Amino acid sequence: MEITAPTVGAETGTGEDLDPIDTLPASFRWGVATSAYQIEGAHNEDGRTLSIWDTYCRTPGMVHNMDNGDVACDHYHRMPEDVELIRSLGVDTYRFSVAWPRVQPGGRGPANPAGLGFYDRLVDELLGKGVDPWVTLYHWDLPQELEDEGGWPVRDTAYRFADYAMLVFDQLKDRVQTWTTLNEPWCSAMLGYATGRQAPGRQDMPAAISAVHHLLLGHGLATQRMRAAAARPLELGITLNMGTSDPASDSDADRAAARRADGLGVRIYLDPLVHGRYPADVVEDLAARGIRIPIRPGDLGVISAPIDVLGVNFYSGHVFAGTDENGNKEDTEGNPVERMVLQGHPVTDMGWEIVPTAFTRLLVRLSQDYPGLPMVITENGSAFVDEPDTAGFVRDHDRVAYFQNHISAVAMARSAGADIRGYFAWSLMDNFEWSYGYEKRFGIVRVDYETQERIPKQSALWYRDTIRRVRGH
Ligand code: NOJ
Repeated sequence: MEITAPTVGAETGTGEDLDPIDTLPASFRWGVATSAYQIEGAHNEDGRTLSIWDTYCRTPGMVHNMDNGDVACDHYHRMPEDVELIRSLGVDTYRFSVAWPRVQPGGRGPANPAGLGFYDRLVDELLGKGVDPWVTLYHWDLPQELEDEGGWPVRDTAYRFADYAMLVFDQLKDRVQTWTTLNEPWCSAMLGYATGRQAPGRQDMPAAISAVHHLLLGHGLATQRMRAAAARPLELGITLNMGTSDPASDSDADRAAARRADGLGVRIYLDPLVHGRYPADVVEDLAARGIRIPIRPGDLGVISAPIDVLGVNFYSGHVFAGTDENGNKEDTEGNPVERMVLQGHPVTDMGWEIVPTAFTRLLVRLSQDYPGLPMVITENGSAFVDEPDTAGFVRDHDRVAYFQNHISAVAMARSAGADIRGYFAWSLMDNFEWSYGYEKRFGIVRVDYETQERIPKQSALWYRDTIRRVRGH
């Protein structure tokens, strides 16, 4: 299928002015990304068991409109057409995730051939169309049985993850070169176990910190085992969601709040991954709250197993105050306040501020604090209220502008010395946006959930044309 749409003319935004995007090299890697639970549907087919997201969606009050991923974009049944759609966008890479409960029902034991078979066919279909598969092993769908045994706060889950990773790796390693262990462990740990805004919906900060450590341990164990079992050079890595954390003022309280946010948002992951140690200030802050990271001898050596690529997911930059609206420095439980303060920038439909300069700053900072680690932007994108015309076409100028400004921000970070090798748009198509359900649309392709029709938006055409232009350099 070729993308066709009403004539868009100059609206594609590819003007003649010198655009930072044109400084990107022809070899730059371009992709689109999705994740299993957000698009696949087929929640009870071919032996798939439940994940924590199936359970969370069925718990009243957790997900907008009580939406769930039972059908989602029905990608499980429409995979070949979706791969053709990906090809038609002109990207070279498709980043997708594998559903653990599909491949290893219940989270233990042998592989389920039917579940694994789906990813086998997906990889072949992609390769047949000249698109490189980029596999994420864990994008939040923990088998429910493992959560029932304690979930990520329990050490054994790290070992279960590494076993599962090897089931997938052994099946696909002959054809897949790039592997991401975890997507956004901050969300799994903090939203899953501290705030409860994501599955499994627990509110227990010490458990969340244990989850951080066991997620990192699982990453390290899987990385070591995949590397040892590889017959050829691989690209192994992890994807972290990161932003900037700036203080709202020069006051000590605001600066400490920004430091703490950066500690729990960036450094608690990257310091052990890259430097083999947890940041001292984070350990101290946690100790002051009576929380200990459950490190055992040898863990940090496993966690810092060398990786080849860091996946960066960026959506916004943040500013923090160390006092609440009434000037209190502590919350009702006696913990120090970290209050996000909006800066009056335009926002997306998620309410997230649009701050592309923060993206450049983040990338340059990462390249300085963690040198020698190539980066790929594994996610960047925006939700807006899309209004289709009678033909279903969406002229999503806001989303085009977001991409334009953020890809430029990446190009500027590269010019400033950051080693960034690629950029993947989130997302290929509208999908299940976790606790926001289907209301929020991040796709460059519209999904009509009534008919499951896919209609490329203006942003898809802009993205395709931009890739073509940069490749043509
Ligand atoms: C990051 C997550 O990896 C993805 O699943 C989610 O849809 C996007 N952010 C947008 O919130």
